[in-house]
Amino acid sequence: MKALILAGGKGTRLKPLTNTLAKQLIPVANKPILYYVLEQIVEAGIRDIGVIISPETGQGIKAAVGDGSRWNAQITYIPQAEPLGLAHAVKTAQSFLGDSPFLMFLGDNLIQGGVKSFVKEFTSNKVDALVLLKEVSDPRLFGVAELNEKGEIVRIVEKPREPKTNLAVPGVYLFTKDVHRAIDKIKPSWRGELEITDTIQQLINDGKKVRSHILTGWWLDTGKKDDLLEANRIVLDEFVKRDLRGEIDCTSQVAGRVEVGEGTGVEHSTIRGPVSIGDNCHIKDSYIGPFTSIAAGTTIEQSGLEHSVVLENCSIRNIERLSDCVIGRCSVVTKRGDGFKSITLFVGDDARVEL
Ligand code: DAU
Repeated sequence: MKALILAGGKGTRLKPLTNTLAKQLIPVANKPILYYVLEQIVEAGIRDIGVIISPETGQGIKAAVGDGSRWNAQITYIPQAEPLGLAHAVKTAQSFLGDSPFLMFLGDNLIQGGVKSFVKEFTSNKVDALVLLKEVSDPRLFGVAELNEKGEIVRIVEKPREPKTNLAVPGVYLFTKDVHRAIDKIKPSWRGELEITDTIQQLINDGKKVRSHILTGWWLDTGKKDDLLEANRIVLDEFVKRDLRGEIDCTSQVAGRVEVGEGTGVEHSTIRGPVSIGDNCHIKDSYIGPFTSIAAGTTIEQSGLEHSVVLENCSIRNIERLSDCVIGRCSVVTKRGDGFKSITLFVGDDARVEL
């Protein structure tokens, strides 16, 4: 069994962060999403892993993942010149995949409890494809499946305007080599992509054994800002343990499950977990509230921050209350101390400021 991680694409919905960072490398609870994906694949016993990369962000992915030895895995990078669809990515990986059955995992998706049980289900039931399904409130954003009375998938449609069910297709799939023949038969969709949903429909039409499994735990697709904050909230809530490695002075209060990294100083501040603060940060005269992740090298002074994700090397000063923020690397957010009521902005392309 092999695995194929899709870590290409353009990440348009997460601009401006994705102008300089692959969306799969955006941290959730201070760890890149892609690392969770790799951990879950290895935990399922698969070590031969292909990673689809794009020309724009492939270098960043390679630098972050390396040869995979950190996970005791072997990584093969597979460049995809253009993001022409999930099935196109599989086609691009054909020589890596050969005739092997494989687990396909979208590099920006996370599944509660990992994928080990699905790999087992796929192998022991000897099916041609296993597709996960999850009930969601707005299925229009996803692939959507219709089932018959026996619970078998009869129809699967990509982002339908009027979904027939609320069963979305999460980004974890298991296939045998038959998928390659199905991909050869499909045509690009209205959005110009070779869709994996059309491929699954083709497998069904060809009479292949396509089975589904309805997820009961959470599934996170981190494709947009609010999804990213939600993923950060859920992952902090589930995984963060109290682990204080930095220096916390006696005038500070740290309540609940809080991680404070090495070399980080906390002075005269209050932190209420779940919170993750990386290495070499400096928190002074501030309040850090629940569901906040602050990456390494960031300084926060005389500010309040909650339910937010701050990336590396930022500086936040004199802002009374920030919430629901995603702040990109090396950003400076500060209040001018000169008494002027005006707001001064120096923001990059595609930025969004809500005052
Ligand atoms: O998140 C689940 C959804 O993922 C499914 O419900 C849909 O059926 C499926 O089509 C897909 O929809 P998205 O439009 O959200 O896919 P997105 O373009 O965000 O791509 C998913 C991942 O695959 C992302 O990490 C980028 C990568 N990718 C995408 C394309 C189109 C590639 O590596 N190559 C590609 O050509």
